[in-house]
Amino acid sequence: MDSAALHEEIDSFFESAPPLKDSSKVTDKLKQFIEFNSPSSGEGRGRRVVCVTSGGTTVPLEQRCVRYIDNFSSGNRGAASTEYFIKAGYAVIFLYRRGTCQPYCRSLPEDPLLECFEIADDVDIQVRQPHSEAVKGAIRDHHAAVTGGLLLKLPFTTIFEYLQMLRIIALSMRSLGPHAMFYLAAAVSDFYVPWKSMAEHKIQSASGPLDMRLMQVPKMLLVLRTEWTPMAFCISFKLETDSKILLEKASTALKKYKMHSVVANELLTRKEEVIVVTSGGNILVHRDRTRTGSDVEDPLVELLVDRHSTYIKTTSTGSLSKQEVLDIH
Ligand code: PMT
Repeated sequence: MDSAALHEEIDSFFESAPPLKDSSKVTDKLKQFIEFNSPSSGEGRGRRVVCVTSGGTTVPLEQRCVRYIDNFSSGNRGAASTEYFIKAGYAVIFLYRRGTCQPYCRSLPEDPLLECFEIADDVDIQVRQPHSEAVKGAIRDHHAAVTGGLLLKLPFTTIFEYLQMLRIIALSMRSLGPHAMFYLAAAVSDFYVPWKSMAEHKIQSASGPLDMRLMQVPKMLLVLRTEWTPMAFCISFKLETDSKILLEKASTALKKYKMHSVVANELLTRKEEVIVVTSGGNILVHRDRTRTGSDVEDPLVELLVDRHSTYIKTTSTGSLSKQEVLDIH
């Protein structure tokens, strides 16, 4: 597809999407968060900022939505990665699907919330053993991240909300130059029903079998990379269930969307290992199997933070040693 046709598709997607509720609130929150962490804040913070996208987008089938198409993503990758980015000193904009896994909640008990607490006396409620330490730890870490201005959580549900928010975030992060990073782990719908051709009310089963035409969601990765935030360090993900096509698809995405790296993962092994595809070669990253409960996101984020450092150095000095050129590709 040529550039003019892609822009036409993207414009038509945004023009026909239902307007984002609270878009000015989202913009204000982003402005404050980015100013607070920006290198030019004058308060010596100058943190790098990463936008982590997480969970799957839904595709509504009716405007007053009763039914929708969804996907499997639990949001675990995005939530875990957010914790490791914060540990590495980044400020994180966590763009997540409502109801999916949250940072610092991964070690919480699966028991229903109300069963984790008990009445201590007439006034107080306490966390029931054996959950006490896990719950207190999660509350402490989450509180520290939020009050320290390191974590901004923005929820989405539909594909329309996700792409509109991604664009607002990208435009807001532009001022950060190479200190901005995108880590696009969300599972984004490939097909959708345009708002204008969508039934307004609940589709009636009495009308017989349903015949519905889904349009292709325009891939926004190239415009994100080249127009919305051209200086940001961009990582996208590629998921396949067939290992034979995974690396080829990831490497096509790397070139086609000018990504700095593409993280290739297979559905069944995604929690064990991933392959980071770069123009200089592929790097296998796996979790530390000698430690129970270790995460693949730990070494993955470490690797990407390192490559981001090299990228910042390149863009600020404009020159690199031979080894650094090899490292970044
Ligand atoms: O959430 P978990 O259960 O922990 O699982 C994590 C994960 C498997 C979802 C994650 O690791 C992952 O691979 N996410 C991307 C899955 C995916 O949807 O791949 P894709 O081939 O459809 O998209 C590739 C990239 O293009 C993604 O970075 C996506 O954000 C982006 N995209 C996709 C479609 C679209 N219309 N526009 C996009 O920008």
